[in-house]
Amino acid sequence: MTPVAVVTGAAQGIGRAVCELLFETGWSVVGIDQVASATVPWETRVADVADSTALADALADLPRIDGLVNNAAVQHAAGLLETTPQEWDAVLAVNLRAPFVAVREAASRLATVGGAVVNISSVHALATSANVAPYAASKGGLVAFTRAAALELAGQGVRVNCVAPGAVDTAALRLGFARHVTGDPERVLRERTPQRRLGAPKEIAEAVSFLLDGERSSFITGETIVVDGGVMARLSTE
Ligand SMILES: NC(=O)c1ccc[n+]([C@@H]2O[C@H](COP(=O)([O-])OP(=O)(O)OC[C@H]3O[C@@H](n4cnc5c(N)ncnc54)[C@H](O)[C@@H]3O)[C@@H](O)[C@H]2O)c1
Repeated sequence: MTPVAVVTGAAQGIGRAVCELLFETGWSVVGIDQVASATVPWETRVADVADSTALADALADLPRIDGLVNNAAVQHAAGLLETTPQEWDAVLAVNLRAPFVAVREAASRLATVGGAVVNISSVHALATSANVAPYAASKGGLVAFTRAAALELAGQGVRVNCVAPGAVDTAALRLGFARHVTGDPERVLRERTPQRRLGAPKEIAEAVSFLLDGERSSFITGETIVVDGGVMARLSTE
């Protein structure tokens, strides 16, 4: 039976690369996004993951789920004191509540087949910058949620892991960085990264593919894999 993977935030960037790699490697893929995807060879569904009912509805009729990738996320770039509670909630609804809702909805189907969940967090879960507090809090929360869900679902044969990317070359990265840094964002990011380059979306997809694969990563659960070209390995005082 062909395994089925659901990927949120599938229309572009890392989510799209995850869909591509899973599709190429034999998965049946269902990509969910708030915007319609370009023509792609896998199934796509339009839903706002911040709307818990719409997200649950988008998953409801799938008879089988082997893999769930919670990837959709939004940024809010503003100082903590300029951020309203509504703006805070809007970020947390996409980045943290939606993964919980999706896991809750998919859990019994994942359990039936011994499936796996991968949550896409960020290096901002581990160390962060000024002016991204709700994003950093949501991504830190996602690492903690991953551990909690892994413990609760291990007995049902479901593994739950996390990937924490560093700077990956996507539209979101360029937009976000342009707001904070003057000069050529790519050059600045390259200089800050020990491997001296941005990551490619496919390099995150490879980690996701590994963590979804019940043969290659069968004894890994509750874990976060950092994929960042060495950024988190360096002391900031160096
Ligand atoms: N690009 C990076 O450098 C980087 C670094 C660390 C972590 N990440 C994480 O990787 C993931 C993907 O990032 P990306 O750079 O590909 O982002 P992106 O903005 O290019 O793509 C995100 C996708 O999510 C969709 N989305 C956003 N809100 C949604 C909603 N409410 N409902 C449904 N879909 C929604 C968007 O339409 C978009 O297609 C995110 O979780 C992000 O936090 C990215």
